[in-house]
Amino acid sequence: MMSYPYQINSLEAYHKAWNKSVDDPEGFWGEVASHFHWKKPWEKVLEWNFREPSVKWFQGAELNITENCLDRHLADKASQPAIIWEPNNPEEHHRLITYAQLYAKVVQFSHVLKNNGVKKGDRVCLYMGMIPELAIAVLACARVGAIHSVIFGGFSAQSIADRLQDAQAGFIITCDGAFRGAKDIPLKSVIDDALVSCPFVQRVIVYTHTRTAVSMIKGRDVWWEDEVRKVETAGNPDFPAETMDAEDPLFILYTSGSTGKPKGVVHTCGGYMVYTNYTFVNVFQYQPREIHFCTADIGWITGHSYIVYGPLSAGATTLLFEGIPTYPDAGRFWDIIDKFKVNILYTAPTAIRSLMAFGLGPVQNKDLSSLRVLGTVGEPINEEAWNWYNENIGKGNCPIVDTWWQTETGGVLISNLAGITPSKASYATLPMPGVQPLLLDEKGNEITANNVTGNLCIRAPWPSTLRTTYGDHDRCRTNYFATYPDLYFTGDGAYRDENGFYRITGRVDDVLNVSGHRIGTAEVENAINMHAGVVESAVVGYPHDVKGQGIYAFVIYSGTHGDESMVRKDITATVSRIIGPIAKPDKIQLVSGLPKTRSGKIMRRILRKVAEGELENIGDTSTLLDPGVVQEIIKGKI
Ligand code: PRX
Repeated sequence: MMSYPYQINSLEAYHKAWNKSVDDPEGFWGEVASHFHWKKPWEKVLEWNFREPSVKWFQGAELNITENCLDRHLADKASQPAIIWEPNNPEEHHRLITYAQLYAKVVQFSHVLKNNGVKKGDRVCLYMGMIPELAIAVLACARVGAIHSVIFGGFSAQSIADRLQDAQAGFIITCDGAFRGAKDIPLKSVIDDALVSCPFVQRVIVYTHTRTAVSMIKGRDVWWEDEVRKVETAGNPDFPAETMDAEDPLFILYTSGSTGKPKGVVHTCGGYMVYTNYTFVNVFQYQPREIHFCTADIGWITGHSYIVYGPLSAGATTLLFEGIPTYPDAGRFWDIIDKFKVNILYTAPTAIRSLMAFGLGPVQNKDLSSLRVLGTVGEPINEEAWNWYNENIGKGNCPIVDTWWQTETGGVLISNLAGITPSKASYATLPMPGVQPLLLDEKGNEITANNVTGNLCIRAPWPSTLRTTYGDHDRCRTNYFATYPDLYFTGDGAYRDENGFYRITGRVDDVLNVSGHRIGTAEVENAINMHAGVVESAVVGYPHDVKGQGIYAFVIYSGTHGDESMVRKDITATVSRIIGPIAKPDKIQLVSGLPKTRSGKIMRRILRKVAEGELENIGDTSTLLDPGVVQEIIKGKI
């Protein structure tokens, strides 16, 4: 018997499903959605136009996603682990949280939120490490109908403040600190710095994890444990899940674009639930009781969709790992896989490349025979890394799914289905049912031939299409739906081979992908320009062996403070302070001018060539205001 009625089990079934999803999207998704728990059924499956844009799935339906992730599993999975948590320090105990326990904890924390004034529609910011309490807090927000905004632990106080202000988030859930490898990151202290400019924040709930000393401000800050105790004293009453409209927002997740300001991507309850579950079950071909290990951080979309909502709505066991792949040594992932007999490993190419660099020593003497499926996400995977993963981790027995998608898409859009549809090294391959990719040329014409490269667009909505960018709908329109009329523009380029398989070639806009982290060049430039001695800067990406892309900054510096190496360090510290350590430039070249056109536009094409080391092939510089500046930049290349 099939475990999920909508799980695709053959290549033929895939083609059938895809065709049906295109011919009759409402019939197709209506059928899939009928396997979920709705408080009230929908009146219409889909209504949309990409001009506004307006995308509405399952209109009129009411639900709460946590009833699908928790309550409905209590009948047959109460004692099955929902979450396995592996701490940063392998000497410490792991935790197993069953569905019954997770349900109880989420109910309990829902009361805590309510007791602290959180209501449906309120924005709640979560800034925590990778501990079960983060998942519990996410689910409790969803249960009370609050909109969560999880901020990755590597962002600075300034970045947090920007996000809090944008969302007008009145509530924060954080920890004293987080462990990451040998580091202990003082999260609450970073929050305290952020809150200097956010007087509208009325409550900060602090979970004790690292036992780092923290300041607790009377009237504003409370301890998680104290608040939970109050609920226990009240006898742990049940918490009926708030009734949500299918199109009510579920969460905001900030991501970088080509402007300096991160965008708050908004996903809604119904469509996001259906699509993350559907893709989880189909891409990984999840089988009941298997252990799914996604190594992403819940601070990114991959963690939202494939650690929390997709797996839990499917009644899966999801493994949450607090640490990093190289601590205490480069065998950490493989030890975890053996310890828990992990069946599915979903990780980023950057992690694979960094582990490859340690050679085969850390993989030898590891069993890894529990693995059935391997996955990658976040950036293009080069063939060498794909082969290494396939041979040394999958031992040639595990299909690799190369999943292409974005924060904005909510779930996987292009990927092979493990063991069902063919895979090809460095190709994401075929679209998921419901997804219609197409390639466009520079002029906006569709390219219908195969063996071509173009700008990747999607023709019609899938259930977890982003609905808006928080507080600025027009920004959503201009960013994603205005470049090509009636199409969603991904910002990525892609190649399509003779079989119609897609290979993502990378961003075609000013967005960098550094170790799978999405960073806007304009954001980094803004941060560099905050440094007192900086006149102007231009940031481009360059190929980096481990990170995929590195950050190369060209900086006009007029300050007099310190020698060049000190200036570079100061600039790096500034970026770290303004955005966070993830955006630190790998290379900073001080220059006296930047290549500009007569109208004052920086010619990044030239800077990209320099950063990539293509010095012989710089291209036409005749339209530059001062072509001489290019020679100087070439001479000073790092
Ligand atoms: O450029 C693509 C790249 O990551 C971008 C999306 O980044 P983000 O919103 O942070 O989400 C990452 C996790 C889904 C895309 O525009 N990308 C993502 N997956 C792949 C990829 N590039 C190549 N292959 C992939 N499998």
